[in-house]
Amino acid sequence: MTTLTEVDLCGLDTFADGPPLDVFARLRAEAPVCFLPEPDGPGFWGVFDYSDVVTVSRHPQQFGSNPNTMIHDPDGGDGGAGALMLNQDPPHHTQLRKLVNRGFTPRQVSLLEPRVRAIVDRLLTDAAAQGHFDLVSDVAVELPLQVIAELVGVPEDDRHTVFALTERSMGLDESGHATSEAEARAAIAEMFAYADRLIASRAGGDGDDLLSVLLAAEVDGERLSQADVDLFFLLLMNAGSETTRNLITGGTLTLFEHPDQHARLRADPTLLPSAVEEMLRFVTPVIHFRRTAREDLSLGGQAISAGDKVVIWYSSANRDEAQFPDADRFDVARTPNDHVAFGGGGPHFCLGAGLARLEARVLFEGLLERLPDLRPDGPVRRVPSNFINGIRSLPVAAA
Ligand code: HEM
Repeated sequence: MTTLTEVDLCGLDTFADGPPLDVFARLRAEAPVCFLPEPDGPGFWGVFDYSDVVTVSRHPQQFGSNPNTMIHDPDGGDGGAGALMLNQDPPHHTQLRKLVNRGFTPRQVSLLEPRVRAIVDRLLTDAAAQGHFDLVSDVAVELPLQVIAELVGVPEDDRHTVFALTERSMGLDESGHATSEAEARAAIAEMFAYADRLIASRAGGDGDDLLSVLLAAEVDGERLSQADVDLFFLLLMNAGSETTRNLITGGTLTLFEHPDQHARLRADPTLLPSAVEEMLRFVTPVIHFRRTAREDLSLGGQAISAGDKVVIWYSSANRDEAQFPDADRFDVARTPNDHVAFGGGGPHFCLGAGLARLEARVLFEGLLERLPDLRPDGPVRRVPSNFINGIRSLPVAAA
C-alpha cells in the first residue's frame, strides 16, 4: 500500500475515476496537513481538513494568491496569469473586486433569470426532441457559456467563435483534447483582441451589460484599465464555464446514482435549493486551489516556511465528518450545509456563486419538470484532472 506521503496528487491517473475520496479520507484521518511531492517542482503542503481549508482561505496576508493559484508554476515566470484577479492579493485585489462586484449584485443576477429560463427552455426543447442526447455537449456546455455571453454582452453571432477561443485558451481543442501552451497563448491573445473590439463598440455608451458597467465603474476615482477589462473578460469566460458545466453533469450523475434522493426531489421540488447546495458539496466541481505562504507559520501542527506552496483541497474538506455528519451520504435536504465548493469564504470567494446557483436551480427545475424520466444511456467519460472534477460525456435518454 502506498504510504500517505507518496500519494501522487499531481498524477492524472489518481483522478481517472474522479477525486480519490478514499485517499482524502485517510489523509484527513492521519495527516490533514502534510508535505507532498510534485513532479518538476519543489512539492507542496496539502491541506485536507475543513477547518484548515477555511483558515487558509480567510487569511490572505499569510496565504497569498500571487503569483499563481495553480500548483505548478509555468516555465519562465507566471505566463501572465499573475495579472488575473484570481491571482492578486490585497490591496490590489480588493480594488478590482469592488469594481467587478457591481456586475454581480443579487439584483444584477436576478435580472438575468428570465434570460436563463429562455436559454434552458430552448436547450431542453432541442434535447428532448432528440430523445437520446449527451447532457454534456447538448446542455451543460452551452448553458453557462450562453449566460455569460448574455451577461457580458457578446452578440449572438460571435458566441461560438468566442466559445471555441475559450476552450483553446484553457489548452483544449474543440473535442476537448490538450493542445500546446503556445496555442493557448495565441487563443488568449485573440480573446484580448476580441474584448478590445467589444470595448470599443461600447465606448461612451450607457448599456447595462457587464462590460458597460465595468467600463463606467469607479472606485476612489479609479477606473479599470482596458488591460484589466481584457483580463477580466478572459477570467469570466473561463471561470464561469467549466465549473457550472460540471455542477450540472456531476449533479445529474449523482441523482442517477441515488434514485431515492432523485425520487424525493421529483416529489418535492421545494427541495431544489438545498439539493443544489448538496450537489455542490458532493460533486465539488473545483478540486483545489493553491496559495503561497508569506511568512514562516504553523498550520495543523506543521511548520510551514515562507515561500512554500499550500494547496487547499475542497473535495476533501467537503467530505470532512467533523463538519458534515454522515459526509458520504447524498441528502437533498441536508441543512446546514456550509460547503466550500465556492471557496472557504475569504476575499476570493467565487464571484459567480449567485449566478451558478441560479443556472443550476433553473436547469434542474426544467429537467425534473420536463424530463422526469431522464436516465443514463451509455458510458460516462470523465475528464482526468486534479483541478476540475469534470465529465466529458454523459449519454442520457429522455424517457
Ligand atoms: C458551480 C460553479 C462554480 C464553482 C464550483 C466555482 C468555484 C470557484 C472557486 C472554488 C473559486 C475560488 C475561491 C477562493 O479562492 O476562495 C472561484 C473564484 C471565482 N469564480 Fe467561480 N465557480 C463557479 C462558477 C462561477 C461563475 C458562473 C463565474 C462567473 C460568471 C465565476 C467566476 C469566478 C471568479 C471571477 C473567481 C475569482 C474571484 C476572485 O479572485 O476574487 N465562477 N470560483
